[in-house]
Amino acid sequence: MWKEIPEKVSQEKITFDVREIEPMLAGPSLKLEPYEPEMAKLKDGNYLYIRPLKKEEVPQLLPFIKKLLDVDHDFYDIVGVRVYGELLGWYRDRLKDPYFMIGTINGKLAGFANARVMNNGIHISLHSMAYVRGLKVGAIMYYAKAKYAFEKLGAKEWWSTFESYNGWKRWGLGMAQPSYPWPDVQHELGGAKVYYITREYWDLSVKQYLLDYIKTDLVPATPEVAEANKELIIPESPLV
Ligand SMILES: CC(C)(COP(=O)(O)OP(=O)(O)OC[C@H]1O[C@@H](n2cnc3c(N)ncnc32)[C@H](O)[C@@H]1OP(=O)(O)O)[C@@H](O)C(=O)NCCC(=O)NCCS
Repeated sequence: MWKEIPEKVSQEKITFDVREIEPMLAGPSLKLEPYEPEMAKLKDGNYLYIRPLKKEEVPQLLPFIKKLLDVDHDFYDIVGVRVYGELLGWYRDRLKDPYFMIGTINGKLAGFANARVMNNGIHISLHSMAYVRGLKVGAIMYYAKAKYAFEKLGAKEWWSTFESYNGWKRWGLGMAQPSYPWPDVQHELGGAKVYYITREYWDLSVKQYLLDYIKTDLVPATPEVAEANKELIIPESPLV
């Protein structure tokens, strides 16, 4: 835009430091209570150790996630590319109040989950992934982030959508999640249907999901399991 000025001015050019522009582009972040590491026993006897992903680990994770873009089954490609964007969005401060967690088995990356705070009441579930199949790692990762949202961060509602049949089966059907009328209400992931869990429904029912449906429980990580997962091992390529 360009318009002649209505008054004489002492400076016709005003320059900005980009640090002055940054607050216009990235709003202030909420101070979220950290997720305390938890663990769940898997059906093969190993423990899945879940902890927050550290922002400085993002560059280490990106090359692995990029390889998922070439996995053309079970919706790994589309979920992979979205996760790649969300990791960069967090790393480059272009995503509002996200939280990311990873699951490891003896240090080896096995699962991923993320979400974000949209406003005081509503948390948006973004993605969950299993990098080891057949152990219900993905089911546990999704439960862990929803539990954190409701029980630590005080979410009133949790909004999900599902790209894949496996995701819908695990959590849409598995948690009997109702959906809002569509297209009146749309999820930020492609304008798809919003499936939701309220705080009341969480307390009454979904809280029991892991015990009832997945037959395991999420408990605070013991020092031994934390120690066994101290070093993060990212596989060369996804084997899913
Ligand atoms: C959805 C997802 C997180 C679920 O993870 P999970 O709970 O660990 O479950 P798995 O994917 O291992 O298994 C799902 C089903 O497929 C079967 N399966 C498919 N491929 C398998 C494989 N290579 N090895 C073993 N089982 C396999 C499992 O036996 C299981 O069947 P079950 O429900 O009868 O147990 C995972 O499938 C995933 O990461 N998918 C790609 C990304 C995605 O879709 N994310 C969610 C978007 S809504």
